[in-house]
Amino acid sequence: MKQNDLAKTEYLRRLYRRTSLFYDVLDWPFEHFRYKRLRPELWKGLSGRILDLGAGTGRNAFYYPKDTDVVTADLSPEMLERARRRIEALGRKPHIVVADALNLCFKDHDFDACVSTFLFCVLPDELQARALKEIKRVLKPGGKIFVLEYVYSRNPWRRLWMKLMAPLVEGLFGARFDRNTDQHFLEAGFKMAEKRLVFSDMILLFVGEA
Ligand SMILES: C[S@@+](CC[C@H](N)C(=O)[O-])C[C@H]1O[C@@H](n2cnc3c(N)ncnc32)[C@H](O)[C@@H]1O
Repeated sequence: MKQNDLAKTEYLRRLYRRTSLFYDVLDWPFEHFRYKRLRPELWKGLSGRILDLGAGTGRNAFYYPKDTDVVTADLSPEMLERARRRIEALGRKPHIVVADALNLCFKDHDFDACVSTFLFCVLPDELQARALKEIKRVLKPGGKIFVLEYVYSRNPWRRLWMKLMAPLVEGLFGARFDRNTDQHFLEAGFKMAEKRLVFSDMILLFVGEA
């Protein structure tokens, strides 16, 4: 990996060591009023071996389908420790792996599907195609990736509010609203199976097919 890319990954790892202390509390209103309704949509109907990548504190775990083998993976051991506790509290055996999306420690064609919620607003644009190529490598042919991602609203007031919040969001979570994830999907060789707004005009769902 290039030195510069390593530095960006290391920055995010250190950022999330700190952010893990308050992630769930700070994110609670967004989870409650926005994401909670969206997450089940991604998971329903999935089966087999699934990668929850950039899983954070395990917010998706509530919706992991029964009888699936879900690998809960993230760059940050501290975020994953919270995910582990959450998954155990749900009465499920956790399968936790510390993993970097840029260099996944899984064999080729290992997974039937990948779910990645709000990882791509955190990953810098220049690293996204590389991460998506890695995901494509570990997916079975025809396997799907489901991504939730923020974009700037077209509503002038909402957009202004997002612009005002952007420095805070980037400082706390490393996240931005102006990533070009759809372009990187195509660069990485995914077919775009679906792309639609799922919350107001601020949260996009991407479904890519390997
Ligand atoms: C905004 S949080 C989203 C967490 C969770 N998916 C959710 O929906 O609440 C972004 C997560 O991506 C992880 N992350 C950042 N860079 C990563 C990388 N290169 N590989 C894997 N995970 C990464 C962070 O550690 C963090 O847990």
